[in-house]
Amino acid sequence: MTPWLDQVFCEDALAGLARIPDGSIDLVLTDPPYNLGKDYGNASDRQSVEDYLAWTERWIDAVLPKLKDNGSLYIFLTWRYAPEIFVMLKRRMTMMNEIIWDRRVPSMGGSTRSFSSVHDTIGFFVKRKDYYFDLDAVRIPYDAATKKARSRSIFVGAKWLEVGYNPKDLWSVSRLHREHAERVDHPTQKPLEIIERMVKASCPPGGVVLDPFMGSGTTALAAKRLGRHYAGFELNPAYCAILEARLAAPEVPPTLAKKRGAAARRKAAAAAVPAAAAIPGEAT
Ligand SMILES: C[S@@+](CC[C@H](N)C(=O)[O-])C[C@H]1O[C@@H](n2cnc3c(N)ncnc32)[C@H](O)[C@@H]1O
Repeated sequence: MTPWLDQVFCEDALAGLARIPDGSIDLVLTDPPYNLGKDYGNASDRQSVEDYLAWTERWIDAVLPKLKDNGSLYIFLTWRYAPEIFVMLKRRMTMMNEIIWDRRVPSMGGSTRSFSSVHDTIGFFVKRKDYYFDLDAVRIPYDAATKKARSRSIFVGAKWLEVGYNPKDLWSVSRLHREHAERVDHPTQKPLEIIERMVKASCPPGGVVLDPFMGSGTTALAAKRLGRHYAGFELNPAYCAILEARLAAPEVPPTLAKKRGAAARRKAAAAAVPAAAAIPGEAT
């Protein structure tokens, strides 16, 4: 058995990455702290700008050797530090996309002295031109009305109509609000729909996805559900307990997984540190 495969280590990613052999990872899919003052039970989202960017550069340099030559990297960011971090990554990789995740935030309240931020900025980077990318796995089916409108004989058997259209770089997917069935107790949990799209497109079946900042374990869960392997790290023991509960029940309805996760969370809650003020309304 490979000791690091299908494991999330409850430890600092920078220390733990030494466990992962170089050139063993198909996809790095990560959602690091944004430095917006979020409370993850640690100080990772409350650093000075200089420290945050220096730390980001350190983990990027520790992670990239782990990627295979045809591997890819997706990174969730916000507008605040995406410019600086994209420049770091563009010095080391080729940027393929800036994906905008429209979190479908309802039009209530928001900023009064600027425009309300309702999106995440996601970077998609590759190491080499022959990177793995399975477009057919992520095509979006045409709706019934479009198919009907194209029902004339010249369209019969048209591949594009049957297989669906290519996803664009604007992804409109609801954030996981408090009542959402998938939601567990993590402040910036990402929707499976988004993470699964990235895994299907950029990790071959049976391949390995690495997420150094697992949070509630969405990346690991997506990999497991889709027949890929995973590896990763999470600093907060309470989140490690949540992700273990999610991984133990990958197929059960998310609401049930949430209840099971609650018991594990209560057990591990002692490990959490008090909350700090975050920048309201930014990033989920
Ligand atoms: C933005 S959240 C990830 C959320 C995740 N994508 C999800 O869907 O739940 C970032 C996570 O990184 C963790 N973290 C921060 N610094 C870390 C470090 N040095 N090593 C490992 N995990 C760390 C935080 O505790 C937090 O849970």
